[in-house]
Amino acid sequence: MFFMDLNELENRAKEELEKIVDIKEAEDFFKKYLGKKGEIAKVFDSLKDFAQDEKKQIGQEANKLKKEIEEFFEQKKQEVKNVPAKHKQKEEKIDITRPGFKKIRGHLHPLTLVMEEACGIFQTMGFEIALGPELESEWYNFDALNVPKDHPARDMQDTFWLKEPKSVRSKLEGLKSDKPVMRTHTSPVQVRYMESHQPPLRIVVPGRVFRNEATDAKHEAQFYQLEGLLVDEDVSSANFKAIIEEFLKRFFKTSVEIRLRPGFFPFTEPSFEIDAKRADGKWLELMGAGMVHPNVFKAVGLNPNQWKGFAFGVGVDRLAMVRYNIADIRIFYQNDLRFLTQF
Ligand code: FA5
Repeated sequence: MFFMDLNELENRAKEELEKIVDIKEAEDFFKKYLGKKGEIAKVFDSLKDFAQDEKKQIGQEANKLKKEIEEFFEQKKQEVKNVPAKHKQKEEKIDITRPGFKKIRGHLHPLTLVMEEACGIFQTMGFEIALGPELESEWYNFDALNVPKDHPARDMQDTFWLKEPKSVRSKLEGLKSDKPVMRTHTSPVQVRYMESHQPPLRIVVPGRVFRNEATDAKHEAQFYQLEGLLVDEDVSSANFKAIIEEFLKRFFKTSVEIRLRPGFFPFTEPSFEIDAKRADGKWLELMGAGMVHPNVFKAVGLNPNQWKGFAFGVGVDRLAMVRYNIADIRIFYQNDLRFLTQF
């Protein structure tokens, strides 16, 4: 009976030895068969239960088996000693009764949603999307837009001026002003676009703008604008009013009270400002606008007697504030998930 067990043990051990492929498996094998509490040690422990003559015989057999397995093991260990343990996957079991995991899906930021929707509405009215750089030159951001040299908007408080590298400065001397600025509005793209495209044209320009000013509930130092420009031979402020009313009606869906006030921008004449009434009854300025100033046409080489146009710059954050009834603009930039997951 016991001889049978020793044979079985021998076969089992050899079979397992064959399958060993890495050092971890070799170590496990050693523990299981050759270790202090291993299978072979158990055979020696059990000798005490046998009669003297049996003890001797079984002891000899067991010794022989132990030696043999040790030899095989040493051989195997040499083979696999440099093979690191591979991560063995536990046998996969599928529990079809377990409830599934609900994946949390991300979504677009409310300002992106508003920007995309606003662009989409203008696209259906024949406007194309145009883009421009966030790092601008003083020429595009101010000069070409007829902003006087002493205009407060150029002041240190409103504009982030950047240092020019010396190598560039020497090359620029005597040329039109090219001091680098972070664009304070999207209007410079009007100039860039008209330099390279002939009217008639209709564009909207989504983009981020920068102002060196203190923040409060209505003002951020970095925010988004959507610029609009339409140039043709016969354009009046009545066309502007019609287009912008259509846009606001489609954007807000419900009726939002709007008011148009006279304003001042060096690059438009006449100029307007448009406010919307918020849910709390207070007015919030949405955009600046007006008829393109003849000096802007001149700066891009277009004849102001032939071409007329209107332009506007909408505060995208302000659109979002009115639509979602948000009192403080700064919350858009705080990345608070309790706020963002509501959209
Ligand atoms: C301008 O930036 C002009 N370029 C707009 C324009 C374009 C006028 C074309 C005429 C023709 P203004 O600085 O007012 O204008 O800004 C336009 C809009 O941007 C404001 O009505 C407001 O909605 C938004 N805005 C202005 N400053 C901030 C700010 N600090 N934070 C958030 N939104 C602002």
